[in-house]
Amino acid sequence: MSAKLPFEIDYKPHFGAKTDYGIGFIGTGGIVQYAHIPAYRKANFNIVACYDINAETAKNVAAQHHIPKVYESIDDLLADPKVEIVDIAVPPWEQLAIVEKVVAAKKHMLCQKPLSDTFSQAVKIVELAKQAGVKQAINQQMRWDAGIRASKDLINRGIIGQPTDAQIQVSVATPWHMWPWLAAVPRLEITFHSLHYLDALRYLFGDPEWVTSRHARYANQGAVKGETKTITVLDYASGLQILVSVNHYNEYADPFATFRFIGTEGAIDGTIGLMYNYPTGRPDTLEITSKQFGKGVKITPTLDDMWIPDAFVGTMASLMRAIETNSEPADNSTADNLNTLRIVNAAYLSAAENRSVRPSEIQ
Ligand SMILES: NC(=O)c1ccc[n+]([C@@H]2O[C@H](COP(=O)([O-])OP(=O)(O)OC[C@H]3O[C@@H](n4cnc5c(N)ncnc54)[C@H](O)[C@@H]3O)[C@@H](O)[C@H]2O)c1
Repeated sequence: MSAKLPFEIDYKPHFGAKTDYGIGFIGTGGIVQYAHIPAYRKANFNIVACYDINAETAKNVAAQHHIPKVYESIDDLLADPKVEIVDIAVPPWEQLAIVEKVVAAKKHMLCQKPLSDTFSQAVKIVELAKQAGVKQAINQQMRWDAGIRASKDLINRGIIGQPTDAQIQVSVATPWHMWPWLAAVPRLEITFHSLHYLDALRYLFGDPEWVTSRHARYANQGAVKGETKTITVLDYASGLQILVSVNHYNEYADPFATFRFIGTEGAIDGTIGLMYNYPTGRPDTLEITSKQFGKGVKITPTLDDMWIPDAFVGTMASLMRAIETNSEPADNSTADNLNTLRIVNAAYLSAAENRSVRPSEIQ
């Protein structure tokens, strides 16, 4: 039996009163072109300038997307008073040096995920912004993916009762050619991909007590150095147990990317649309069952936002609200993101030492 929800799910980005802060990009590669720019255009945000270490890329992106100003140095972009928010989108090992310049220029910033590939550098990035008194958010945007945001609202409303079991399972053929520089990284899957799931799960359920993780490589992954298949288990003090299982080399079977959140009073089943054909994607799906609706009733609301571009609106809108209200970015402060990175690093320690690890071991 199908039915309708007796309320509207709150899953779209929330905006402050001011949304015309001038945005300047540092790095204008793939993710800026196919996600940031379409998102900001859709939300009517104000893109004013860009810079890329590859001047040709910056020039082409500016021409194609009508960005008014292209700079040939970071310093010149930061000296532009029209740039109020710096949007950084470079490989993680480049981020700290850029943040040092952004804080010196006293500009607010959206950092790219992962904050860094080194935990100590991530801590430094957070400290720098705090000392400079500027707002710093992270573009860890799965928290604004429609299926996750909707699940958060449903869990807050008590639809599933006390969460007892959560699973995210993904088995796809990932287009690794989009990031040639990733082939050389020793820590691949959890650092660059599963961290989205781990962060979204922290958003929904808070911090776990224990992290247990196992990592594998695919027989035919060639020059790609890091792990490409992982299983991570998070155990919570409440008894909640979470499974994140990801395989990036499903070359033959139908792809799947599912989440399932089960509680004492109901369950949410969904699909992560983006992962079926990255980066085009399709809308997420949701199927809700709950004691509140009666046994056998399944509710399947339609979610019309997509991870790309809509979730990228959410991270920037949150930073803008933080600037406007002089508060910490809601749901994407970099200080909070350190706890996601603790889980990421705990996962690697777990795999390396064949044991469960407390996130607090990572300091
Ligand atoms: N939030 C997400 O979901 C998401 C998705 C994909 C990539 N990313 C992240 O975004 C970042 C960029 O990824 P991408 O896919 O755009 O890669 P990309 O290789 O397409 O682009 C990276 C760009 O950064 C430029 N660059 C490198 N070092 C620089 C520096 N010091 N100063 C200025 N520009 C510099 C390069 O010239 C290139 O144009 C990575 O950290 C990646 O992890 C995030």
